[in-house]
Formats: sequence, structure tokens, C-alpha cells
Amino acid sequence: MDPTKLRSYSWFNGKEYYNFSRRANIRALGISRQAFHGKPVVGICNSFSELNNCNAHLRIVADAVKRGVWAAGGFPLEFPVISLGEQYMKPTTMLFRNLMAMDVEESVRANPVDGVVMLCGCDKTTPAMLMGAASANVPALIFTGGPSLSGNYKGKTIGQGTDGRKIFDLFRTGKVSPEELEEIEGCMVRSSGHCTVMGTASTMAVIAEALGMSLPGSAAIPAPDSRRLALAEMAGRRMVEMIEEGLTPSRVMTKEAFENAIAVDMAIGGSTNAVVHLLAIAGRTPHKLVLQDFDDISRRTPFLVNVRPSGEHMMEDFFYAGGVPAVMRELLPNLHGDALTVNGKTIAENVADAPNHNHDVIRLASNPIYAEGGTVILRGNLSPNGAVFKQTAASPHLCSHTGPAFVFESYQEMHDSIDSMDLPIDANTVLVMKGGGPHGAPGFPEWGHIPMPKVLLEQGVSDCVRISDARMSGTSFGTVVLHVSPESGIGGPLAIVQTGDLITLDVATRCLHLHLTDEEIAARLSTWKPAPPHYTRGYGKLFLDHVTQAHLGCDFDFLQAE
Ligand code: FES
Repeated sequence: MDPTKLRSYSWFNGKEYYNFSRRANIRALGISRQAFHGKPVVGICNSFSELNNCNAHLRIVADAVKRGVWAAGGFPLEFPVISLGEQYMKPTTMLFRNLMAMDVEESVRANPVDGVVMLCGCDKTTPAMLMGAASANVPALIFTGGPSLSGNYKGKTIGQGTDGRKIFDLFRTGKVSPEELEEIEGCMVRSSGHCTVMGTASTMAVIAEALGMSLPGSAAIPAPDSRRLALAEMAGRRMVEMIEEGLTPSRVMTKEAFENAIAVDMAIGGSTNAVVHLLAIAGRTPHKLVLQDFDDISRRTPFLVNVRPSGEHMMEDFFYAGGVPAVMRELLPNLHGDALTVNGKTIAENVADAPNHNHDVIRLASNPIYAEGGTVILRGNLSPNGAVFKQTAASPHLCSHTGPAFVFESYQEMHDSIDSMDLPIDANTVLVMKGGGPHGAPGFPEWGHIPMPKVLLEQGVSDCVRISDARMSGTSFGTVVLHVSPESGIGGPLAIVQTGDLITLDVATRCLHLHLTDEEIAARLSTWKPAPPHYTRGYGKLFLDHVTQAHLGCDFDFLQAE
């Protein structure tokens, strides 16, 4: 490799004082001149944090990447970026996804790195890295941390979120004791790594692989599995080659790659959050996506992967069955097989012979679980710019439903009254919650999975239609309409829905309809007033001033590609 062609060359070579000073400061790490001089610098962008249990093992992964970089003749330098831990951050990690993407982009751009291996895992960390990688456009490879070991209680697997919520509903109704709940608490999250079902983190790891930005076969390897570290070593080796080849994200994240990623998302029954993240990632490139792309691809893509919350199995089972390559092999006739990936080969070359070891976990395309993909896009006078719905996690009998709305004006109002036995609702009711959007909440939190009201649970009703402008955890399930756009917080039609208004959800025709005339909606909106802004200073104000709506990906307007 000609060192004068390296991006880092101008930092460390030349006759200026700063060239000398930078070399001296690299030596301060205890590195000999021979170890780094003239070698490609591989940044290891690490979102490790003990405040993010999903990513808490990434230092060990970074060590494996370093081994690979050294072995291939490169020089590794690890650096931190903000980590977004889904479990702890308030008000929501989504408020900070764009901040992390900026951190990634500027850390890469400002520093002497020739290529970057990006370590991530928890929900927002993978899209933030992909967004930053797209904007910086320095050779980049996404390496996710893998799912944690499947939870297990009394011989039964427990999926984080998916089963945790069901168990907690049983606890709310007295069917699980406090002692049992405490025991389950110690059985559910058995290692570092991201959630064990096809939640947002798993979905985004799969999408990174389907986009071609991760090594084939990497997304589903369990976090503690030794094969993950071996592959991390390979990622370090490969990055040195990618630098030599000039293999930048713009050569990988093409329009075709995004269409492949959407198709795979549909086939795995991926998280609804993937929609907003893919819109944002593509928005950093010249290949912008629109919501309709998701619905068009959903209609022609079979749902194949039998993993919770849309199916029965766990991410560990998905890995043992063959993981992403097995899914992409099934979809190959409908994919862009010539899309390039970070290993230097095309999708078709990577997956053409991928084995499928379990046709129950990964169905054959000739025997899908469902003929269409997991996520669909709804439109109508309640969501003129679209809404997102996960049909594979919904109750079929509710997918064509008309019922009277019961409105919660805010999350707090819902939270305070959802367990009241006096709620005047029944199984036919459509629960509506306002104030969950990017502006209204703020930050677009995962409030959309409105808990089932206790009064309905007591009657044995386990699902009802729920509608909001919020997001929902990818581990959740139910007949839940999300991302209603424009949001109520900026005066979208959701803002004027009143208890008793009739609403129709019809998934087959992709319809979300409020039974009011245009004149009635306009009259109610004419008296609507926005709430005062949640932030008047700092990052929160920047967010409110520049975040786009859900149907555009919620990136900041000034970060999108021109
Ligand atoms: Fe991090 Fe679920 S909490 S992936």
C-alpha cells in the first residue's frame, strides 16, 4: 500500500512542526515508530458503555478487531463515541440518535483514520453509526455486538421485551407473584448483547448486513459466542484491505442496497423502527427513500422468519438456522444480487450457497409464514403523511376494524388511568394517545405500545386497536398503529380526535380513517393550539428546531445529504 495515498498521511508526515508533534504524541501511547509509521490507521469507533448493558462487552470485541488489524499490517486506534442505552436513558434514546450520528461523523472526519470498524448493538447505536458512516464516507464496516443469550425460566425461553411484557401483564393481574417476578428478573437477560428477539437492535443488525455494511453471517451470532470474536478479528483484517481498495460507504449503500435491506426487513418481520432509521440513513446519501418504498416492497416480499415477537423462536435459533445469509438466499430472485458488500463480494456471491438448517425458523420462500412482509404503511385522513403498522405482530381479527375512539390526551394521562377499572371501554374500543411524536413527547419515544387496559385484561381481552404518533419497541406486539404523521404535537389530525369519534383501520386497503368530514376536521384544527416547547436551550432546542417528521426519518434537516 502506498502510504502517501493514505488519508492519515498528511497528519503524520511532512515537514511542519505539527507532523513531528503528532508523531511524538502517538509515541506517548507506548507505540514504537516502526509499529505505526506508514501504516493504514484503522479507527475502532466504540460505543462501549456500562450504562448500556447491550454494548458492555464491546471492549473485548475491540481487542479482537485490533488483533486483526495488527495481523494485516494496519495500525488500530480505538476511540469512544456517546453510547445510547435503551434501558436507562431519559426521556428516550431516540432524542439522541442524531447526536450520536454527529459524534460518529465528526470523530471520523476530524481524525487521522483511513478506515473505521464501528462497534454497536443497542437499538439506536447501529443506525447512528450507519448515518455517521454515510456522511463521513471514509471506508467503514459495521460490527454489531450480537444478541444476548436467550432468557430461560423453568425450562421455557423468555424473550426480552416480548415475554417480559406478557409476564408483567400477568403480574399486574395477580397471576404472577412478586417472588416469581423477582426470580424471572434474574433469568431474562443472561449476558451482554442486545435483545434476544427480532426487536429493533436485532433488526438493525440484520439490516446492516443486508445493506452490505457488515460481514456476511455476522448479525445473529450470539454476543458471548467465540465465533463473534473470531469474526471481529476478520473485520479488522478486512478493513485494512478495504482501505487499500478505497471501499467507501457510498460504494456499498446504493439504491439497490437500500431496496435489499427493506426486503430483508420485511422477510424477518423486523421492527417498525427500521422504517424511521432506514429513511434517515438513506437520507444521508443521494438515494433517498420514501414511505411508499416500504409498502411496495412489503407487498412483494414473503415473511419468512419465525422469531418473536412475530413468531415463536429466538435470535439464537435464527443464528443456528443460518441467519441472514439463509434468508437472503431465499429472497435472492427478488434482490439486487449484484450489490457490493464490505467483504468485496456481491450479495449473490455471499449467499448463493448459504445453508438453511431449520426450515421452521427460516421458512423457504415456497412456504412462507405470510405472503407479505411484516410492516405496512397506512394512509388516510388521520395520517395524511402515513403511519406504520406491523401486521405480523397484530391480531388478524382486528386488522379490519371500526370502533369508537377513547382518547388519552397525553402519555401521562394514559399512564395514570390505564389500570383503572372504571375506564368506559370494551373490546371494540380504539385507544388513541396523543403527544408521542418527535416534537410532542419530545424525542419520539416508544410509548406507542399502550399497555392493555386492566379492565380488558380482566375480561380476557388480550389485544385491541391502539393508535398514536409514538414509536414502539421492536420487541412489542399487538394491533398497534404507530408513527402517525404529521404528529399531534404540530397540529396533525390526530390532535383533534375526541372520545367517541369512529375510526376505521383496514390493513388490506392500507386505510386509517377518522369518520369526520374535511370541514369538521378543519373546524376543530382552527381552534387547536400547540403546547409550549419542551426545550428552549441546548441540544433539546436544536432537536426541536431541526428534527423532521416520522415519515422523513426524524433526522435533522441540516444533516441530510444535499
Ligand atoms: Fe438494548 Fe434491547 S435494550 S437492544
